[in-house]
Amino acid sequence: MINMPVELCGVKLKNPLIAASGTFGFGREYDELYDISAWGAVSVKGLTDEPRAGNPPPRIAETASGILNSVGLQNPGVGAFIRDELPRLVSRGVAVIANVAGSTAESYTEAVRKLSDAPVAIIELNISCPNVRQGGAQFGASPEEAARVISVVRKVCSRPLMVKLSPNVTDITAIARAAEDAGADAVSLINTVTGMAIDARARRPVLANITGGLSGPAIKPIALRMVWQTAASVRIPVVGMGGIMTGTDAAEFMIAGATAVMVGTANIADVMAGHRILRELGEFLDKNGIEDVSELTGSLILD
Ligand code: SIN
Repeated sequence: MINMPVELCGVKLKNPLIAASGTFGFGREYDELYDISAWGAVSVKGLTDEPRAGNPPPRIAETASGILNSVGLQNPGVGAFIRDELPRLVSRGVAVIANVAGSTAESYTEAVRKLSDAPVAIIELNISCPNVRQGGAQFGASPEEAARVISVVRKVCSRPLMVKLSPNVTDITAIARAAEDAGADAVSLINTVTGMAIDARARRPVLANITGGLSGPAIKPIALRMVWQTAASVRIPVVGMGGIMTGTDAAEFMIAGATAVMVGTANIADVMAGHRILRELGEFLDKNGIEDVSELTGSLILD
């Protein structure tokens, strides 16, 4: 028997696999295909205080071993999420992480305030979306800006606060330490790596927004490195993500220091990725004689 539950800032998850925000919507489509309560938790599409239409299309481009997206935080607004989506997710018995984004510190605060009585397990503060002109990654680009928004949100946040970090910075550990000092209970990383695609025949950018965020296996080595560096720099838990496609990938992120991991682009490439990766992670533990998945966390051997 392998012990799969993990504890993430006081919240018990039935296993360390979390569906990553933006790749799972509100779980509606997946819910029709499989039992979504198999996930340790589901992080929903980034929610803003007011509804957002997002960026104009094209918003997605396939790349070698990855996807570029420039969705621009399309979402129905936090109020509609609480009313129309959250009850179904809760009824499925899956822990819900509300990913919250904003264009100003006030709009983050307002969205988080609206979630104070909602049955969500964790708030994931998204200070790393690279696809919006105002807010998003602007807040995650410097320790000072990160601390400013996190400390005002902390005051109104009644749930554990996890901050989602951007890899598009010189030193992610400085941002992670600022997040910890400003009251974050955990950090999740990495969000997407800014990139672009060009249609050579047309001599035009493929994405209407010109640039987008790269995710998928192409960014896994960058993500692993940043998870490892960050886990060594903060005392709060680290949730790792970036190109996890298999159970062994998930194990690698935990070995690098992650308490739990998020699976994103894999859900788009393989609709059953959540179930498959969970099974593969169990097989990895079994083959390696590991009885508790938490034993992996921070177990990297450096001689
Ligand atoms: C988007 O909606 O553009 C992606 C969200 C993100 O990268 O945080």
